[in-house]
Amino acid sequence: MRILVLNGSPKREQSDTLHITQAFLEGMNEASHHDIHIIHVIDSHINYCTGCFSCMKNGGTCIHEDDMRNILEEILSSDLLIWSFPLYCYGMPAPLKALLDRTLPLSSMAMQKAGDRYEHVGQADFSHLRYLMICGCGFPNSRHNFEPAVAQFRLCFPSNHTIITVPESPMFNAPEAAIVTEPRLSLVKQAGTQYAETGEIDQALLDEIGTPMINEEQYAAIVNGGM
Ligand SMILES: Cc1cc2nc3c(=O)[nH]c(=O)nc-3n(C[C@H](O)[C@H](O)[C@H](O)COP(=O)(O)O)c2cc1C
Repeated sequence: MRILVLNGSPKREQSDTLHITQAFLEGMNEASHHDIHIIHVIDSHINYCTGCFSCMKNGGTCIHEDDMRNILEEILSSDLLIWSFPLYCYGMPAPLKALLDRTLPLSSMAMQKAGDRYEHVGQADFSHLRYLMICGCGFPNSRHNFEPAVAQFRLCFPSNHTIITVPESPMFNAPEAAIVTEPRLSLVKQAGTQYAETGEIDQALLDEIGTPMINEEQYAAIVNGGM
């Protein structure tokens, strides 16, 4: 399987969230070999969408000539797109959002009804693509935190999507927290193997991965004490 990882953290390899993504990929590779390419989005030259819609009208060409041309080609030649990003203000970091906006050339202006909502008709065939969101965050609570990012991902990629969220993610970069992060990364690895083998992850496993690694109050006290 060709896997394209869009690392939305400006911290590149140092990303807390990328620890989770790497564990997932390790699990996938244990099931079978995959061809993996990671893009650190912060290093790509991606102009903001100007909203001119010319890409949706003239056969899919954007007015900008930047790295997005290659990225769109890579997206289309992948089987799995992993959106790996930290939660920023309840959504995705701006560089990754700029990339998401610039996927507009994949769609045409034409709209079609899909259930109780409308979506744009594709200009390219991306029906083979599967989508995975891996999102870490700094607070210990998942409720009243991840919902906007999760809702956006589900609306953007209504089919073939899987979502992994992990609170208390800064602990993945703290060696002293290994006693709780290592078991969590093992669960994520297990999820990766399951996903590679079946295309799905048990809801119970996703729920377990999404729980705080240590008690909320204890986590807050550690963060506050270190300030
Ligand atoms: C600009 C900014 C906004 C943030 N917003 C949130 C937020 O809405 N909720 C949250 O729990 N953490 C928030 N955080 C914390 C990050 O999600 C957290 O530090 C995460 O572990 C960083 O992951 P990374 O190392 O993969 O970039 C924010 C951090 C920054 C810098």
